[in-house]
Amino acid sequence: MWVEVSLLTGFFMVNALKSVPPESVAVISEVRSEAHRFPLISRLLDLLGSKDYRPPQLPSTATQLTQLSQQENICPTEMVQLLSRDPMLAGELLRIAQSPAYGGASSIRSLEEAIVRLGLQRTGELFVRVALESRVFRVAGYQEPMRQLQRHSACVAQIAPIIARAAKVPSKSAFLCGLLHDIGTAATLIALVDSIAAKDPIPPFAEVEPAVQKLHHYAGGLVAKEWNFPQDIIDVVEQHHGCVRQENPLPMACVVNLADHIASQMGYGFGSELTNDSPDTVLELLKLNQVAADALWLKCRKQLEKMA
Ligand SMILES: [Fe+2]
Ligand SMILES: [Fe+2]
Repeated sequence: MWVEVSLLTGFFMVNALKSVPPESVAVISEVRSEAHRFPLISRLLDLLGSKDYRPPQLPSTATQLTQLSQQENICPTEMVQLLSRDPMLAGELLRIAQSPAYGGASSIRSLEEAIVRLGLQRTGELFVRVALESRVFRVAGYQEPMRQLQRHSACVAQIAPIIARAAKVPSKSAFLCGLLHDIGTAATLIALVDSIAAKDPIPPFAEVEPAVQKLHHYAGGLVAKEWNFPQDIIDVVEQHHGCVRQENPLPMACVVNLADHIASQMGYGFGSELTNDSPDTVLELLKLNQVAADALWLKCRKQLEKMA
């Protein structure tokens, strides 16, 4: 009987692994290897892997806009109609579109004006940002870390396209990759808080952070997949740490890794997120020499100052 059971288990495991890309298998193996040092990792992986796990919801308008913005000929009217389905988020979009980071010197009074000012793609990206900030970066008991994560993600999203252009990496998805790169942190904390009984205290962030940091990229890949983001974005979210150790590092994962580093160096980091990835090696992978790196640093600083 045990033979049958073990054979069956093996069968299901092999089939489960077949449906998971090899990169995901490597990422999950790496995460599991840390479980003996951080016992909370096993509990978090169980929560995220449970059949009852429901990732945080992103308004469907956000993913539809992302899919729409991937198309060649986007119809502005179609975009306005989509945005209008969520007036609260559309209003927030208009507010942020007028900030200096988006070049807003004069006021924007309508979605049509926002599209003219920002362009179709940036309007869609900005909507995803306000959707995340309003609906996902909110975890009871962890308000301050979430506020920091929200600011960090917005900063990485702002500078990732600058780095991508400097490194001649196709930059279309750079903003969204930057915005979503640490989404696994929010998702993991939400899963943790949901698993704690109402009468029990929520552990301080400092206590859970080491385990959450160790698996946030894996959790981020799960959530981005659940939200139907394109596979290239899912891969970058999953691989934005440790790209220097990959045999074939994804150029956009290196871009986000460097954006993460620069944002942290400029005071917009998130907790103890920084990894052992050497920024010099990442610059090498992106074929950026010292002169280019210095110029890039200045451009990123200017952009981040507008967000302050
Ligand atoms: Fe990260
Ligand atoms: Fe980050």
